[in-house]
Amino acid sequence: MDRPEIILAPGPTPIPPEVYLAQGSPLVYHRGPGFGNLMKEVTARLKELYRTEEADVLLMTSSGTGGLESAIQNCFSPGDEVLVPLAGFFADRWMKLAQAQGLSVRTVEYEWGRRVRPADVAAALAEHPVKAVLLTQSETSTGVVQPIEELAHVARQAGALVIVDAVSSLGAVPFAFDAWGIDVAIGGSQKALSASPGIAFVAVGRRAWEAHGTASLPRFYFDWSIYRRFAELPDPENPWTPAVSVMQGLRAALDLYFQDGVDAALERHRTLSRAVKEGVKALGLDLFGEGLEDNWTVTAVRAPDGLDADTICDRIRADFGCVLAPGQGPLKGKVFRIGHFGYFSELDIIRGLAALEMTLERLGYTVERGAAVAAAEAAFQEAT
Ligand SMILES: Cc1ncc(COP(=O)(O)O)c(C=O)c1O
Repeated sequence: MDRPEIILAPGPTPIPPEVYLAQGSPLVYHRGPGFGNLMKEVTARLKELYRTEEADVLLMTSSGTGGLESAIQNCFSPGDEVLVPLAGFFADRWMKLAQAQGLSVRTVEYEWGRRVRPADVAAALAEHPVKAVLLTQSETSTGVVQPIEELAHVARQAGALVIVDAVSSLGAVPFAFDAWGIDVAIGGSQKALSASPGIAFVAVGRRAWEAHGTASLPRFYFDWSIYRRFAELPDPENPWTPAVSVMQGLRAALDLYFQDGVDAALERHRTLSRAVKEGVKALGLDLFGEGLEDNWTVTAVRAPDGLDADTICDRIRADFGCVLAPGQGPLKGKVFRIGHFGYFSELDIIRGLAALEMTLERLGYTVERGAAVAAAEAAFQEAT
């Protein structure tokens, strides 16, 4: 029987019924007060989420990667130098994206799964100053949440712009645009907020606007000045025809997210993460990556000896309709990843862990039935 898949992957995340209803409701015309109010509400909420008074939050019809590309096109000129600390697939994508736009990329390299060390970044910047540091807050490929506050601090001290890919972290882990001295931060609708894919948000601070003023890389669709001009109309607009339905869904998703406040939403993510990690450990599996206490978005799990991680992902999906994420790059076949940011409840996690127990048993791994579920329940009970 066809049923909706049970998503426990790091995005797109499960979409609440309220969001489906909102995005299925009649289209608001994209020029005029209806859409203008939508933009105002969504932008105000996102500013609160970014914890910024200072920045402009621009909304673009694109996946997160478009938001990242916009940051490169709008802040730099050909040949500008940037530093990318490399510790996973998405940091690597930052590097490739910057190279594709003609920037000169320097790197500080780590084994995947490591946390980036602020002292290393400070040393690299002291040896060779650059115009900007491109950071990834939640390295979705390894589950590691990088220490953005500390990294931003050393980058600022070295006079570099701080540009953060927060696509898989905004709304799931703490973020403080103004207090941490961030210049640009990019998020996406389909991640912790659990709206549909299709909208990128880009927070742009004062220093980034200054850089934009002199940046000469070619840009058009993602030209921030045009977005700002349209956003400043009495009834704010997008310059181009936006994903209106997704925006309607995003407003509903933000309403839900803000029902209990940002702090409660972050605490929920912390608890979900702990329950997943305790559950997985109770099965005798090893967790992957540094800084597990802080890694509230994704849990990367080493496959047990003799089992291929991709086989676990394939089997749990075939047998239970449960979508986990396979390992990427050098971690392919070695780890599988459980995404737990977005619209998840305790029971979503528990049924996912139950499916994992049964899947591992079917693949020949000795499982104490109920062990993961019991450990997750304990984590949830402790948190209340
Ligand atoms: C950290 C990070 N950056 C960027 C992206 C790319 O986002 P999108 O697929 O929305 O373009 C992802 C997607 O998983 C991500 O996790």
